[in-house]
Amino acid sequence: MKDKVIKILAIESSCDETAAAVLSGSLTSPTPRFTIHSSVVKSQIKLHKKMGGVVPEAAARAHVQNILPVTEKALKDAGILLSKLETVAVTAGPGLIPSLLVGVEFAKGLSTGAGLPLLAVNHMEGHLYSPFQSGKKIAFPLLSLIVSGGHTLLVLQTDEKKYKVLGSTVDDAAGEAFDKVAKLLKLPYPGGPEVSKRAEKGENNIPFPRPMLNSKDFNFSFAGLKTSVRYFLQDQKKVTPQLKANICRSFEEAVCEVIVSKAIKAVKKYNCKTVSLSGGVAANKRLRSYLAAACKKEGVVCIIPEFELCTDNAGMIAIAAYFKLRNGTKPAEPKKVKADSSWEIK
Ligand code: KG4
Ligand code: ZN
Repeated sequence: MKDKVIKILAIESSCDETAAAVLSGSLTSPTPRFTIHSSVVKSQIKLHKKMGGVVPEAAARAHVQNILPVTEKALKDAGILLSKLETVAVTAGPGLIPSLLVGVEFAKGLSTGAGLPLLAVNHMEGHLYSPFQSGKKIAFPLLSLIVSGGHTLLVLQTDEKKYKVLGSTVDDAAGEAFDKVAKLLKLPYPGGPEVSKRAEKGENNIPFPRPMLNSKDFNFSFAGLKTSVRYFLQDQKKVTPQLKANICRSFEEAVCEVIVSKAIKAVKKYNCKTVSLSGGVAANKRLRSYLAAACKKEGVVCIIPEFELCTDNAGMIAIAAYFKLRNGTKPAEPKKVKADSSWEIK
């Protein structure tokens, strides 16, 4: 059979990064075979830092400014003309609706103009497939841990196309808890990196709770932990830089312990061969090292992408699109694609 190779342009604008990537891959090879030719990300962190968090309208305005140059750069870096693509893919949800709409409407215009079909991709599926950017062969069952500002998910993937969400957060996402604790400590946005930076110099000497550590399911809860930090702070007469560092360290330990322990519980229950970590919180050094150590102890392979590939990018959307197309999903007529801010994976 002749090898059928397709070229995909993927666009991502679900939160505060405007991103585009070009991928080519074989639809007919027995195992996945693809190349990412370009991946361009324009971050809005500086803009939102000034405002202390992501303001959806401001994010959308920045996406409007950035989306065309980012897409043009992705095509130029790849050396591939729009007319030579087979499909355009776009993140259609979940995310901030003003942000999503910019990417989706732009992709609709672009694909209609070029006479290409359009594939709606779920942002979380993008994170789910992001470990495939490592180029390593992945042995299933794969336990995928997706920890970001909006989600905390444990997903069991049994083959290239089948997956099931084992658990998620019942309240705040892990990244959200980092950001809220940072706010309590008057640290700048985004809070995660600030908390983890201070944690380096802190001691793990405050007994914050480990919410749902021993629950029978694979769900998480971080709202109570954040509230414990608030109560602890209210009881302090003076918050010295060292105390701040200790709070950051003790909080980070609590989050890491719960996440790693639940992941390993799932590894044991489902005999997983591989564990992967993605989402913005995967940039956390302690989480990376604790998970890697726990996986080593269990004898399972642990795949943690480089920092840039953990956070939002369009390469992961292109890969998710590639897997969907490989597995028979048909791209749609562009006008049929709609943004859906609460599109959950199951
Ligand atoms: O995946 P992401 O870039 O965006 C979405 O939420 O989709 O994740 C951003 C989140 C923020 O909550 C940020 O504070 C957190 O990831 N984060 C971290 C670190 N770096 C980013 N959390 C803990 N430690 C870090 N080093
Ligand atoms: Zn994300």
